[in-house]
Amino acid sequence: MTARYAVFGNPIAHSKSPRIHAAFAAQTGQDLHYEARLAPLDGFAAAVRQFMAEGGQGANVTVPFKEEAFRLCDALSPRARAAGAVNTLSLADGRICGDNTDGAGLVQDLEANLGCPLAGRRILLLGAGGAARGAILPLLERRPASLQIANRSPAKAQALAAEFSAGADLPVGGGSFEALAGRQFDLLINATSASLGGAALPLPAGLFAPGSLAYDMMYGQGDTPFLAQARAAGAARLADGLGMLVEQAAEAFQVWRGQRPETGALLARLRAELQG
Ligand code: ATR
Repeated sequence: MTARYAVFGNPIAHSKSPRIHAAFAAQTGQDLHYEARLAPLDGFAAAVRQFMAEGGQGANVTVPFKEEAFRLCDALSPRARAAGAVNTLSLADGRICGDNTDGAGLVQDLEANLGCPLAGRRILLLGAGGAARGAILPLLERRPASLQIANRSPAKAQALAAEFSAGADLPVGGGSFEALAGRQFDLLINATSASLGGAALPLPAGLFAPGSLAYDMMYGQGDTPFLAQARAAGAARLADGLGMLVEQAAEAFQVWRGQRPETGALLARLRAELQG
């Protein structure tokens, strides 16, 4: 019988996830169907439960429901608990289990696709919302030299740093953008939603160490606003979040199906389409 999966979001029409999972299913020879479902803003839990009642075995969750999905679950993986958000649901013995593959997708894209090992690197994470929080534990697990979190509202960055530095034996700091003055980083990750409004971040000059990589979790045709800013500020390498999107999906596929698909060819195809 064909296994059924879905992605829930609002809006959802432009989601690439159905295509990505159809490609993974074809590649691995797995018999599954994956669809996009629009959940009403006040009806996410009901939509998920209905899908599971119809025979759905698992689901992805995207904006704006990841925190609500976290609250819906009967059981949580450690990385979902750390993220405070869930993007991957599985049904096990009638219980809804929540996982979060976003951070693992980011790390996989950085290390495997972009050839940027994180061990020993000085990392700057920009933003302190849900996207930033989900990245912290997977980044720390790769043993960077340090992790600095900077945010427009500095108190949120300080709170995140305090929470995660407790269990880390490497420097984890948090504060404002201005407080970064005089420091240099090997990897700068934009996890703010500033790009959506086209806004530049108020970053001090000189943050980009020689050979540094600027990474934006957002993606689009050409440079995102953050990547344009990083290019002008002297970043040696630029990468957007298309690879993270594909890798978080591969990780979810593995959670559900026990097999990790190969991502290179699909990523190249999506990249070519994006560039038109
Ligand atoms: P997400 O789930 O995408 O992380 P979020 O939890 O709403 O969304 O977090 C948005 C992040 O983008 C926050 O870090 C926010 O900064 P504040 O905490 O100060 O609100 C950041 N952000 C949004 N617009 C921004 C802008 N124009 N400049 C700087 N930071 C911005």
